[in-house]
Amino acid sequence: MPSESTKVTIYYGPLSWFEQKVIEGEGEGLLEAVFDHDERQREHRFFQGDAERPEREAPPRLPRLIAKSGDYASLNEHVISNFPGLIGALNVAALHLHNPPEQVRSHLQRAFPGTVVERYEYPTMTRQKLLSFRDGFSAHLVGQENVRDQLLAALYPLTRPSRNKPVVIMFYGPSGVGKTETARFVNDLLGGEMMRKQFSMFHSENFASYVFGGRHSDASFARDLLDRESGVVLIDEFDKAASVFHSAFYQFFDGGVFEDKNYRADVGRSLIVCTSNYGSEQEIHDALGDALSSRFDALVPFEQLAEEEVRTVMYQMVDAQLSQLETPEKQLIDADDIKTRLEILVRKGANIRRLGKITTQVISMMLVDASLLEASESGDPDEGPSQSSVDMP
Ligand SMILES: Nc1ncnc2c1ncn2[C@@H]1O[C@H](COP(=O)(O)OP(=O)(O)OP(=O)(O)O)[C@@H](O)[C@H]1O
Ligand SMILES: [Mg+2]
Repeated sequence: MPSESTKVTIYYGPLSWFEQKVIEGEGEGLLEAVFDHDERQREHRFFQGDAERPEREAPPRLPRLIAKSGDYASLNEHVISNFPGLIGALNVAALHLHNPPEQVRSHLQRAFPGTVVERYEYPTMTRQKLLSFRDGFSAHLVGQENVRDQLLAALYPLTRPSRNKPVVIMFYGPSGVGKTETARFVNDLLGGEMMRKQFSMFHSENFASYVFGGRHSDASFARDLLDRESGVVLIDEFDKAASVFHSAFYQFFDGGVFEDKNYRADVGRSLIVCTSNYGSEQEIHDALGDALSSRFDALVPFEQLAEEEVRTVMYQMVDAQLSQLETPEKQLIDADDIKTRLEILVRKGANIRRLGKITTQVISMMLVDASLLEASESGDPDEGPSQSSVDMP
């Protein structure tokens, strides 16, 4: 093994930031280097009789090796557990690693004590952004004034530069009343694409390895945290996670550190929002137990919207969807007509998400009808009937 040392730099943060720091074209990727190395190892050498067997030549010095977060998944476990050995065998001069597994970091730091660690500075809450939150809330969310006021108080500690742990908040209440939308609004004030995980997406078996860690190639919550771009971590449908997983979140909620078998992430002064459809604080305590529910800094209830508020949201949705259409399409459709058609659903207290879908359907149906009518009036024999047979709601 070559005796020359390697200059190691480890980067913790989003991929886009890593790629800015370490320009890809100026180095070799880990996977290609390992592949070339394996090829060389496979080379057969034949010796006759007592002929002297020369040592294999060390590979030429590799000036710069780059590994990204996703690359470790393709390596065998034994390569990961002896990463400094691989780096020695590859004869690397400068190594740049993005979000490596813990084992890789600790072995490298032992083998190369000069290892440098750089961390991305995530966007944080400031008093100025808190003001923008207060003043911009009603333009993004209809109603829910209590949510705005409670959140202002809950977010305030994040404006202190000395704070080094997250604020953890549970949003609870009925479906389609603005929980996810509120988290998105806060994240937009901070910047970066919001990390959003839906816990209902994972079946129990996958979920165990997602939370506690499995093979390096398995999806991992800790690695997703390391890769995240945003200062807000949104865990949607927290109520869908089985209680055996609750203990995995104690340390995370207390101090912002999430560790699994392979990775360790420290989110520091971030906002963690969990959403759920619990109906009351009591229900949260009963379902999550004291140990977990007491770790939330705030439990924020979202109210069912009043009829007038649902109407306002529906109007906003119709206007937003119409603004996305092409100009000739816009001329075929009358916004007031759509709003009148949807009024009955508002009166029936329809779920907003359903209203959104139906708005899309109604707009599409009206476009189809109007364009077929136009075609039949222009006398195109290939076109169908002048009215579609789809019933409007
Ligand atoms: N109070 C509100 N003001 C404006 N828009 C809203 C409001 N509530 C919901 N919406 C709109 O309805 C849609 C669904 O809202 P959102 O995803 O925030 O629901 P949710 O409360 O997270 O529901 P769930 O519990 O089902 O996840 C979004 O497109 C959002 O824009
Ligand atoms: Mg939601």
